[in-house]
Amino acid sequence: MRCSLTLTLATFLFATAFHASVLGAQAVPADAPYKIPATPVEQRVADLLRRMTVEEKATMLSGSGWMESAPIERLGIPAIKMADGPMGVRSWAGSSAITNAASGPAKVLSTSFPSGVAMAATWDPELVQREGQAIGQEVKALGRDMILGPTVNINRVPLWGRNFEGYGEDPYLTSRLGVAYIKGVQSEGVIPSVKHFAANNEEFERHRIDAHVDERTLHEIYLPAFKAAVEEGGAWTVMSAYNRLNGTYCAENVPLLNDILKKEIGFKGFVISDWGSTYSTAPTVNAGMDLEMPGGPPMQAWLARPSTLASGNGAGWLTQDKVLAEVKAGHIGEATLDDNVSRILRVIFESGLFDHPHLGGGEVDTPAQKAVALQGATEGIVLLKNAGSLLPLDAAKIHSIAVIGPNAAVARTGGGGSSLVRPKYAITPLDGIKERAGNGLDVKYAPGVGMEGEDPAQDIAEARTKLLKEATEAAAHADVAVVVVGRYSKLEGESFDVKTMDLPAGQDELIAAVEKANPHTIVVLNTGDPVTMTKWIDKTPALLDMWYGGQEGGHALASVLFGDANPSGKLPVSFPKRFEDSPAYGHYPGENLRVDYAEGIYVGYRYFDTKNVEPQFPFGFGLSYTNFEYSDLRVVHAVTHSGTQKQELDLVSVDVKNTGARDGAEVVELYVHDGHAKIDRPTHELKGFQRVELKAGETKTVQFNVDRADLSYWSPEKKDWIAEPGTFEIQVGASSRDIRLRGPLELKK
Ligand code: BGC
Repeated sequence: MRCSLTLTLATFLFATAFHASVLGAQAVPADAPYKIPATPVEQRVADLLRRMTVEEKATMLSGSGWMESAPIERLGIPAIKMADGPMGVRSWAGSSAITNAASGPAKVLSTSFPSGVAMAATWDPELVQREGQAIGQEVKALGRDMILGPTVNINRVPLWGRNFEGYGEDPYLTSRLGVAYIKGVQSEGVIPSVKHFAANNEEFERHRIDAHVDERTLHEIYLPAFKAAVEEGGAWTVMSAYNRLNGTYCAENVPLLNDILKKEIGFKGFVISDWGSTYSTAPTVNAGMDLEMPGGPPMQAWLARPSTLASGNGAGWLTQDKVLAEVKAGHIGEATLDDNVSRILRVIFESGLFDHPHLGGGEVDTPAQKAVALQGATEGIVLLKNAGSLLPLDAAKIHSIAVIGPNAAVARTGGGGSSLVRPKYAITPLDGIKERAGNGLDVKYAPGVGMEGEDPAQDIAEARTKLLKEATEAAAHADVAVVVVGRYSKLEGESFDVKTMDLPAGQDELIAAVEKANPHTIVVLNTGDPVTMTKWIDKTPALLDMWYGGQEGGHALASVLFGDANPSGKLPVSFPKRFEDSPAYGHYPGENLRVDYAEGIYVGYRYFDTKNVEPQFPFGFGLSYTNFEYSDLRVVHAVTHSGTQKQELDLVSVDVKNTGARDGAEVVELYVHDGHAKIDRPTHELKGFQRVELKAGETKTVQFNVDRADLSYWSPEKKDWIAEPGTFEIQVGASSRDIRLRGPLELKK
């Protein structure tokens, strides 16, 4: 009985849909409201939707190619033409394998911006917004409409292969930068995609792994950047992740997509699947996943490859025939289909794509875009150690430099995978140093060691000995040695995790040997993840982290080495001494395809600082060639009224003085300590930061607003954010472990 009722209802619904389709197929007048730009977006969406046939609607739920959504020509609905990101416009033609190969077709050369973690190290949302805008301009210039970024997944484990793409370990910092990136991209009428929703924090078995994360941890650590992207950035699309979350694939996860993203957060744009992350038709559509990618013939060809399915990829579930069959069977309601399609249409109208297609033919890598890449690479460099003020180098005093290391003469612009951009040029550390040094300085180069997995010499003992000898000799005969170490796109990238926190084979020994040969050694890290340094750090006088700095990395490094730029970057991630010290150790990569986030909210400094585990370098840490003094912390309660709305917040201000002889910039960090909460809270949480430029001797007042949200934790019982009245402590400092000033903040009932 029940079954026949369902069938009858389904048949009725389908008949209604089909009826609409007959009406919908009528010719569309030139002045149809949806075609008129002045018509409000929601009316355009409704008008267009009622003209669509059910077949057309069903067509829109899957892509028409590797990087394009399905156009409906009859109605003038354009395909959304996508390009990978987030660190610039990556080539979009062909499969991932094709687009990565240097000899692949349709080479797209565009500006390679610094990796996400390098941009995070700038703590400069204004700059990230300009980066987003520059990328938006390049997307348009290349005739595309959408960039698949930013990546806002949290660095939970130092071995995650994609840490370099994200903005580090802290949800607040990640939120601020994600919002900035989105605003920049969207200001150009280009569609960003915030990815990967959610809890995509390891590459190990990324298509199958099931991340088990408790509700509080999700809300406090892994969701805030997505929430901010939607609420503050107004993000037009969100990309669902490959993995399962609490037992269900993200692409068909009702609590994640429908309940949290669409209802709780109020997301009005569309959810796009990650490439090949769907495993069902009705459950996926009904969960709120709006557009499956890839689609069309490239997807069919890709699916036919045994390796695709063997790796756990899923695709081809939201094709028109499958969706129509489920609509006909009553498993997908018409209202649901309408909602999914409306979301895609809304973005097409809102972004301006419907009215102003991006025709391409524009210029990329303009001087202004390159300048943003250079500024990001420069501001992102973190000075971690500078014993005896070895840096900056004084070009007038030194005569020779030995530039050493497997990353010295190659531009390692980014990690591997879908984010790797092919730039028109890229400056290696060696080129940057040579260019800056000019003719008066003798610059010698020695690789010292072959890069693991790249250089066959690495496997031959005599060749290794010879390389090491050349390097130590070069170091011994130079005034200064600069050793550039790290990984590259095949050791750190998408679809695999990093094997170990240790530097690749031979590099620790290289550093130790060079340091022995020349006490004036500067080590430069060129990676996206923290690395172990215990074998050499105590003897290292100077250490810089340049991350993957994009095409301008070499110029940026040289400008910091020679003091043209004063380093101002700070770590967006704690550097554990060893992997065993990191909070996720023992809960990674999981067993039997399940990973439990057993450390809960104690990620990064929340763990190190609360549990008193000493990191190698703490979160938020970074030195300068000058010094900054903090004074006079003030906390003033303020009540503001906007119409009938009353808002209470606390205005925190602090004076920061550049006490040294050089101009510089300081990132001032604000943490909140809650000592009276009824539940366990980390010893402090970042809730504000500002990067402030200070001339030598100058003092500026830095101000922060702290509101209720900044004092809150997520209560699973109340299903809400709770701030408990009482006295909080405001901490202002230069890193999570260098708190300079503290003051009380009262929260009244
Ligand atoms: C990645 C995404 C990327 C997509 C398209 C996937 O493998 O996880 O980040 O945007 O491919 O290339």
